[in-house]
Amino acid sequence: MTNHNQPIGVFDSGVGGLTVLRAMYRQLPDESVLYFGDTARLPYGTRSPQEILQFVREILLWMAQSRVKMAIVACNTSSALALEAVRCEFDFPILGLILPGARGAVGVGQRIGVIATPATAASGAYRRAILEMNPSAEVWEMGCPEFVPLIEGNRIHTQQTREIIREYLEPLLAQKMDTLVYGCTHYPLLEPVLRQLLPPEVTLVDPATYVVQAAAQELDLLGLRATPGQGSTQFGVSGCPNSFATLSQQWLGFVPHVHHVVLPPV
Ligand code: SIN
Repeated sequence: MTNHNQPIGVFDSGVGGLTVLRAMYRQLPDESVLYFGDTARLPYGTRSPQEILQFVREILLWMAQSRVKMAIVACNTSSALALEAVRCEFDFPILGLILPGARGAVGVGQRIGVIATPATAASGAYRRAILEMNPSAEVWEMGCPEFVPLIEGNRIHTQQTREIIREYLEPLLAQKMDTLVYGCTHYPLLEPVLRQLLPPEVTLVDPATYVVQAAAQELDLLGLRATPGQGSTQFGVSGCPNSFATLSQQWLGFVPHVHHVVLPPV
């Protein structure tokens, strides 16, 4: 039987899912979290759909063995390409980013740009979800293959990064978008640079806020909110724990204790 103090599993290819974790600290501070970063195999955004499905199955199996009460796929690529296939294979709720992100976007804008990994952009998942919610919206999806390696390589504040971001934004700005969705959980980490390059009238939408809202509603529905004051976070990665701890410190404000995890074969 599910216990309300079991952790919520949150996973991504690397540090990007920390933007969802930060939203959890703000919006669901009492919940315990089991965070996993598949750092040995990132970036996911240039992987094939078959590889992503395999990785997501392995991670969710490990989370099931770790007795999570819910999982949040804090990776848009996995949400777009694997979530529907795996959802029915596990007996806990699994939430992804696309629908919450699309809901956030249609709530604020009409001319919507989405920056995402090549795999997410090619899937057309955001376009479909947004148009289903608002058929008169206009949507432009832009695959940005360089962003995740720049962030995981801790090269955000360089002139080269600024130029790369400017290039990707140009076609979206030419369309006079009023809203820009972070279609990858890594990208909110680029916000200081993005804000300098975007006109003030463009609203940035972070799906992390909306997926955590959806998680809170689901927990209420299932009567699974954790006991106040009990929350803690465990961190696991498939790659080097020290590199992850060092990189994530700047986003979390503390140095996490990170375990090395060997995922079970499926
Ligand atoms: C990546 O590893 O390419 C990023 C995954 C994502 O959030 O889409």
